[in-house]
Amino acid sequence: MGSDSFGMMMCIFVGCLAAVSAGNFNEEFDITWGDGHGKIFNNGQLLTLTLDRYSGSGFQSKKQYLFGKIDMQLKLVPRNSAGTVTAYYLRSQGPTWDEIDFEFLGNLSGQPYTVHTNVYSQGKGDREQQFHLWFDPTVNFHTYSVLWNPQRIVFSVDGIPIREFKNLEAIGVPFPKNLPMRVYSSLWNADDWATRGGLIKTDWSQAPFTASYRNFKADGSRAWLLQQMDSTNQRRLYWVQKNHMIYNYCTDTKRFPQGFPKECAVH
Ligand SMILES: *[C@@H]1O[C@H](CO)[C@@H](O)[C@H](O)[C@H]1NC(C)=O
Repeated sequence: MGSDSFGMMMCIFVGCLAAVSAGNFNEEFDITWGDGHGKIFNNGQLLTLTLDRYSGSGFQSKKQYLFGKIDMQLKLVPRNSAGTVTAYYLRSQGPTWDEIDFEFLGNLSGQPYTVHTNVYSQGKGDREQQFHLWFDPTVNFHTYSVLWNPQRIVFSVDGIPIREFKNLEAIGVPFPKNLPMRVYSSLWNADDWATRGGLIKTDWSQAPFTASYRNFKADGSRAWLLQQMDSTNQRRLYWVQKNHMIYNYCTDTKRFPQGFPKECAVH
C-alpha cells in the first residue's frame, strides 16, 4: 500500500467511518518535552522516553479521538525504577476535562510495579484503582489498552480487562462522552509520592531510566463502539479484581466517611 492511500485511511475518528490509526510514531505523535530525552527509532516503529536527574520526557498524539480501542505496547523501566512514574493516558482539553489514566509506579528491583488507574469526567477524578501485575512488565513489551465507547471504559492488559467504568449517567454520574481526547505519555520523577508517600528515593546512579513503546493502534470501528463485556471477559475482570487489585477507592471507608461515590454501588 502506498503511503498516500495509507495516510488517507488515517483520520480523526470524529466523522470517520472505518478509522484505524496504526503504527508510525513519526506520523502519529509529537515528542513534546524533555530536550532530547524522548526519541523515535526504526523509521517510527519504536519510541523511547528517558529520565535522568536533569529531565524526564513526554509525547502526545497529533490526533484526537472520540471513542475507540486504543492499544499501545510498553516495556517499563527495568531494575530499580523506584520513584519513577510512567504515565500513559487519554485526556481532553479545557477546565472540565475528561481523562482516562494508566500510571506505572516503579519499584525496587524484584518488587512489583503498581499500575494506578483513574477516570476523570468533567474535571473530577478521585476514582483510583491500583493493581499489581501477574508478570514482570520490564522484561518484554505488553499491551495496555483502553476501550472507550458511549457505554463503558475498559482498561485491559494483554487483552485481559482489569477495570470497567460503566456509563452511569442514569444515576447521575458524569461519563466522558463529548470531548475528544489525545493520547499522552510521560516519564518523570515522583519520588515525593509514588513510593507510598516518598518512602524510597530515586536512585540516580541507575539513570538514565528508559521506557519503550511500540505498536500503537487506535481503532474507531463500529464493533468497538458497540463492544460489551462478554461472560469470558467478566470472569477475567473478576479474577484480576479479586487477585491483583491492591487499592479500590470504592472500599476506602477512611477516605469517604460521608459515603461512597454513587458509582461504587454499581461497580
Ligand atoms: C513496591 O513493592 C512493595 C513490596 O512488595 C509493595 O508493597 C508496593 O505496593 C510496591 N509498589 C510501590 C509503588 O511501592
